Amino acid sequence: MNGVRIDDLPVRDELRGKSPYGAPQLDVPVRLNTNENPYPLPEPLVERIAERVREAARNLNRYPDRDAVELRTQLAKYLTDTSGHEVGVANVWAANGSNEVIQQLLQTFGGPGRTAIGFEPSYSMHGLIARGTGTGWISGPRGDDFTIDLAAARKAIAENQPDVVFVTTPNNPTGNAVPPETVLALYEAAQAAKPSMVVVDEAYIEFSHGDSLLPLLEGRPHLVVSRTMSKAFGAAGLRLGYLAAHPAVVDAVQLVRLPYHLSAVTQATALAALEHTDTLLGYVEQLKAERDRLVRELRATGYEVVESDANFVQFGRFEDAHTAWRQILDHGVLVRDNGIPGWLRVSAGTPEENDAFLDAVRALKKEQSQ
Ligand SMILES: Cc1ncc(COP(=O)(O)O)c(C=O)c1O
Repeated sequence: MNGVRIDDLPVRDELRGKSPYGAPQLDVPVRLNTNENPYPLPEPLVERIAERVREAARNLNRYPDRDAVELRTQLAKYLTDTSGHEVGVANVWAANGSNEVIQQLLQTFGGPGRTAIGFEPSYSMHGLIARGTGTGWISGPRGDDFTIDLAAARKAIAENQPDVVFVTTPNNPTGNAVPPETVLALYEAAQAAKPSMVVVDEAYIEFSHGDSLLPLLEGRPHLVVSRTMSKAFGAAGLRLGYLAAHPAVVDAVQLVRLPYHLSAVTQATALAALEHTDTLLGYVEQLKAERDRLVRELRATGYEVVESDANFVQFGRFEDAHTAWRQILDHGVLVRDNGIPGWLRVSAGTPEENDAFLDAVRALKKEQSQ
């Protein structure tokens, strides 16, 4: 069987020659490349997870709650408490990471013969999940300053009539938030064109200077807000994402979800983490302060920085971003090269990790000016 490669298999035509998602997982002292939360979960929470998982283990002979009602109730409470907008259990759906939420949305509202649009550069998985679900992908435009140019975006929606519109705010990898007026205008444009579903990806919203767009759900049944516990809750390893939308959307995604998709262990762990929301949101405040420090210090060192509402910062400009990425790596710090010419992205780490990063980029500036 040696020598058989992907292309020797009868894989779908649109997957041929493509690469999977893959941020490098290199073993270096300071890893600031995947927008993870650098703080391990606090010990009392680790203990509570162990307790809850022990309880769940006693029932692992049974399938888990297929509708994850207790978890969705607690997620709805978290959303209501933090946004002031009333969210009920019927408005919330949960899955294994927001990537799975997005996949279920595309399986439900996209698929063969349908299209989705995102305004790029943005989160690359939107396009990759579109491809995986047989949904045509349209790369919509962004301005040179990485904001969404409303006129150009409206034109792209009117011309392409997509079935799903993605708006990532704060945007990854650029870090900037999309103003609510722009999201509303895109929603109106999408309704005039089709009407289509508008998915607001708020993976980083807890780090924003501004507010969540959850209140916009009122009276807009084609709007979906997706969220994750991977970033603010510091639980990327848990794999728990969720959405808030009109109850009809929650009913619709259940048409495509696998039965019992969310394991009892996942539900128990997420419930334990939600009991410690206040502590975890305390870390978010520290990270926001560190993110603002990174922006200030990078600018003071002479770098250009995109305004950030996330737990990462896009900085440049480099004549050759990949060479700069390698030079920073030589200083023991792994940042992210997203392939955007001239720019790199760094995730906010602990103060010590950020110091190491800042030392590396200051040294790089010196080397470049010699
Ligand atoms: C904008 C955006 N959405 C969604 C995700 C996926 O998050 P999850 O870990 O919940 O699948 C990420 C992860 O980096 C992201 O940047």
